[in-house]
Amino acid sequence: MQKKLDRIAKDTNFFLKRFIAKQKKTDLVVAMKYGLFSGGKKIRSKILVDIGSLFNLNYKSLIIIGAAVECIHAYSLIHDDLPCMDDDSIRRGKPSAHIKFGEATAVLAGNSLLTMAFEILSHSNLNFNEKIKIDLINKISESSGHLGIAGGQYLDLYYEHKKVSERKIVEMEIKKTGKLFSFCCVAPLIIKKKNKKDMKKFEDIGSDIGLLFQVADDLIDYKGNLILAGKKTGKDKKKGKATLISLLGYKNTIKYANKLIFKINNKLKKYGTKSKNLSETLDYILNRNK
Ligand code: IPE
Ligand code: IPE
Ligand code: MG
Ligand code: MG
Ligand code: MG
Repeated sequence: MQKKLDRIAKDTNFFLKRFIAKQKKTDLVVAMKYGLFSGGKKIRSKILVDIGSLFNLNYKSLIIIGAAVECIHAYSLIHDDLPCMDDDSIRRGKPSAHIKFGEATAVLAGNSLLTMAFEILSHSNLNFNEKIKIDLINKISESSGHLGIAGGQYLDLYYEHKKVSERKIVEMEIKKTGKLFSFCCVAPLIIKKKNKKDMKKFEDIGSDIGLLFQVADDLIDYKGNLILAGKKTGKDKKKGKATLISLLGYKNTIKYANKLIFKINNKLKKYGTKSKNLSETLDYILNRNK
């Protein structure tokens, strides 16, 4: 699993390095590269490749779409660490972007990474017809704005120190993290021009995978440590974050995560051995320590 993940990370970084190479090297660009290349797992690209392989899609195109997703992810982390949000000074074992480059540059690097995703998806080196590209851009925009990351991040902050129901916590986690995974799961179906019903099915699978991912991240915050995780832990409790752990307790949250894996695997059954890679990725997501 780690080998496959490393290969995808290498290929994604290679594409992104070439894509940025033409830009003049300002501090802003250095900060963007810091957000992209300072050691992220590239797990969203892995999900995209796993789902893409169910539909026999070309690996190179999946890497390009994954690169766009990773830009949005990198943006979301830079902003997530800002003093006005989670106020975190360490990310991936290194100083957070705003600590290293200052707040203004970090905000602008985040903005530029967000828009770079759209540059990548609309670029001529992505070999799909315009309709497909517009549909991809439409879906990734939806996953990033008020219906997705930004909306979820808003709720995450709004719910601090409040008593929040399970349904609302799940809705918040699906928005802030799940929607980008939804995009990864539906992108291959957009390319294959599948019907609305199938698309909805894969968007829902993506939401569940993203929810699983965020629940696992919350578990790492609860039980993990700085050296392995590469970020400070024990912070959600300190900040009064509404998580499933704060509501249901640690053990019940692990049970919840295992049930999610069972549910997702069940939906993938009809793809037989083709879904093996994805199932492996799900286990990795829950059992990782960073
Ligand atoms: C961390 O995401 C933030 C969440 C959405 C939980 P990742 O754990 O994917 O971060 P990197 O890119 O691997 O550092
Ligand atoms: C972040 O969730 C979700 C995003 C969309 C960025 P967290 O705030 O829990 O992520 P970490 O723990 O700081 O990586
Ligand atoms: Mg946060
Ligand atoms: Mg955070
Ligand atoms: Mg966290």
